[in-house]
Amino acid sequence: MTEQQQSPEPYDADRARTALNQVRTEVAKSVVGQDAAVTGLIVALLTGGHVLLEGVPGVAKTLLVRSLAAALDVKTTRVQFTPDLMPGDITGSLIYKSDSNEFTFRPGPIFTNLMLADEINRTPPRLKAPCLKRWKSDTSPWTASHVICRLLHGCGHPNPVEYEGTYPLPEAQLDRFLLKVILPLPSRDDEVKVLQRHAAGFNPRDLAGAGVRAVASPADIEIGRRQIQKVEVSTAIMTYVVDLAQATRNSPSLQLGVSPRGTTALLGAAKAWAWLNGRNFVTPDDIKALAPACWAHRLSLRPEAELEGVSVHSVLGSALNSVAVPR
Ligand SMILES: Nc1ncnc2c1ncn2[C@@H]1O[C@H](COP(=O)(O)OP(=O)(O)OP(=O)(O)O)[C@@H](O)[C@H]1O
Ligand SMILES: [Mg+2]
Repeated sequence: MTEQQQSPEPYDADRARTALNQVRTEVAKSVVGQDAAVTGLIVALLTGGHVLLEGVPGVAKTLLVRSLAAALDVKTTRVQFTPDLMPGDITGSLIYKSDSNEFTFRPGPIFTNLMLADEINRTPPRLKAPCLKRWKSDTSPWTASHVICRLLHGCGHPNPVEYEGTYPLPEAQLDRFLLKVILPLPSRDDEVKVLQRHAAGFNPRDLAGAGVRAVASPADIEIGRRQIQKVEVSTAIMTYVVDLAQATRNSPSLQLGVSPRGTTALLGAAKAWAWLNGRNFVTPDDIKALAPACWAHRLSLRPEAELEGVSVHSVLGSALNSVAVPR
């Protein structure tokens, strides 16, 4: 028996990791830059959490999700959230068939692998609440759906674009998202590259034509998830995470610090990040790298702090600087 047959998992695990890292290169064939966002989405898929995707119009949020689905070889849907959307428009509905005198279930767009809930804050709370509950109960994205929500504007953004007619997600709902991924405007060089690609005939509707291939599959995600369970976390690292969370809870600038759900989310994401980087243990640097994406949207500033121009990122930065890093 070959070594490969005796222990299929380590071999498969290496292949799955290589394939998932390759997804980043593949997405980059259509989306210029934004590598951090792609990595964030892969970490979320491996951790099994949902993502808040934020960026001004036209920074390729939709293109990124479609390219990710193509590189992972999974189905994707996009739902434009509007004030008059009904829960059945997302979950599906029962259709009466008069010929057979029966009701049949017609699945809605939530029955997919990657669902982009576009402009989720355009819809009133009566719809968001049941959707978020439903999404939360989906533990495996491949049996139902993995949701990426695109926010119209940030939580607590001082000068939001198109704020009118929107319903910001309350803190309780924000806490249910594993991480928030922000797509910044491209750098000067990157934007020139975008134009060069378009001048050379790039068509965002033809991803295959742009050379985006399926380089990984849902099976790779499943293998990755099993491997992540084995990533070790020392008690010192766990204590470090709790100390950081307590620093946010004690911050005079915040009315709401990180919840225990937030600490478990950060630990899970750090394990996925460690595994993607070829390690079977979590380091303090993994925690530091993931803390802003996992925690910033869970923090709520006091109005006085907001008026003084304090940002959640600066509060998080102070927490990271004030807590002793385990050796
Ligand atoms: N970083 C980028 N790389 C490649 N193309 C880009 C990039 N940024 C913008 N584009 C171009 O701009 C188009 C708009 O992108 P897309 O529709 O994905 O933006 P969006 O962020 O979803 O916008 P909206 O907020 O309006 O939904 C893309 O189809 C692409 O042609
Ligand atoms: Mg879009």
